[in-house]
Amino acid sequence: MTNIKSYVKENKGRFIKELIELLKIPSISADPKYKNAINKTAEAVKLALEKSGCKLVEVCETPGNPIVYGEHVIDVNLPTILVYGHYDVQPADPIDLWDSPPFEPVIKKTKIHPEGAIFARGACDDKGQMYMHIKAFELMIENNTLPCNVKFMIEGEEEVGSTSLEWFVKRNQDKLSNDVILISDTGMISNEQPSITTGLRGLSYVQVEVTGPNRDVHSGLYGGAVANPINVLSKMIASLQDENNHITIPGFYDRVIEASDEERAEMSKAPFSLNAYKNALDMDEVYGEKGYTTNERNSIRPTLDVNGIWGGYIGEGAKTVIASKAFAKISMRLVPDQDPDEITEMFTKHFKKIAPKAVKVMVTPHHGGHPYVTPIDNIGYKAANKAYTESFGVQAIPQRSGGSIPIVALFEQELKSKTILMGFGLDSDAIHSPNEHFGIFNFLKGIETIPLFYRNFTELFNEKN
Ligand code: BES
Ligand code: MN
Ligand code: MN
Repeated sequence: MTNIKSYVKENKGRFIKELIELLKIPSISADPKYKNAINKTAEAVKLALEKSGCKLVEVCETPGNPIVYGEHVIDVNLPTILVYGHYDVQPADPIDLWDSPPFEPVIKKTKIHPEGAIFARGACDDKGQMYMHIKAFELMIENNTLPCNVKFMIEGEEEVGSTSLEWFVKRNQDKLSNDVILISDTGMISNEQPSITTGLRGLSYVQVEVTGPNRDVHSGLYGGAVANPINVLSKMIASLQDENNHITIPGFYDRVIEASDEERAEMSKAPFSLNAYKNALDMDEVYGEKGYTTNERNSIRPTLDVNGIWGGYIGEGAKTVIASKAFAKISMRLVPDQDPDEITEMFTKHFKKIAPKAVKVMVTPHHGGHPYVTPIDNIGYKAANKAYTESFGVQAIPQRSGGSIPIVALFEQELKSKTILMGFGLDSDAIHSPNEHFGIFNFLKGIETIPLFYRNFTELFNEKN
């Protein structure tokens, strides 16, 4: 531990500088305009891995964005850790709401990060967290303490559904064989209270289009006599949740595994202040499904949310018009054992059924993903918990997250290994939002904690085998 701490202390300035360089490249996967930046980032990650001492590194071409693969095998009898991360980022819009440009990283102090945080798109999700792994690897190589084999798989399509990664994993099962998968792409409760993410929600994402008249019409001449698709869409969306905020799609909850009273009691022990939660978002009250707490609503319960809604006239002044079409993007976060394809089908059927005859409805599915939960009685979890305990001085709390990393369920299915989600971000780091940031403390603490996981996992693995 002392060697680890001193190495991080001596090199932290360089670690931060290197991360800042990586954050300057706008690797937005959602927009094809940024394809060059995507390729450039993949090359930069490859170079970083090589410089850190990784023996074999390649940029693997796929039908979509390249995957950076690295491999450092020291002894085939030792266990192998497969590190996954993503170098792509979310779009930066709305750009106006950023206090500093999203791809010109700056370090600023905040209340939660008194030691400073790096502000940039991707700082926390996931360039900063991915880079901790490369630097932790460098540290183990330099200190001659790498206890096992490592493989790195850093993709560039996580934010758009990991389509090419699925393609890659299915074709490279042997190459990717491993004893545990390690990911830092989630969060923890606070800098004083680490937690290990033991569950992720799944996702079903659809776009809906409601068509009324075949052209935009005068809202005086036709108003009152034809279906206004925006009015109709609003009513349809409103009806998807009842007065208890329970989702009304028939069959939606059929496969939901209800948490037991014991599990819920256990969950409620995690430190949480409802007041701090409300204050951080300037809300007088929270809102959600009746009968569940805030932390239950955002982790073990499924949701339905409109992510965007548009149609009609939104320009200057007033235009008296009834639009021909209205649109919305709707996401449903899923929990075990809900199936994304089944949910998409249920949604489509129901949405068409509740539409009045006066409109036509089209539903287009986007990417989806399966939910994931992992048990805590395996050596991966134990090794992670021990690592956090050693580096933070307190045990980590297991916690299910509300976010999704759809590829994790696929890893289990294709590679037959458990994933350990050792995240170092905070919910307040504003991932996907303007002013995303990542605490310097979190970045460095991650670099310190990861080698401890390697050591603990190798020890527990050798004891078991
Ligand atoms: N890293 C996030 C997921 C995450 C963040 C999980 C914090 C838990 C805690 C990931 O990059 C992400 O944004 N996933 C998407 C899903 C994807 C299909 C676009 C999400 O959750 O919206
Ligand atoms: Mn991510
Ligand atoms: Mn993300």
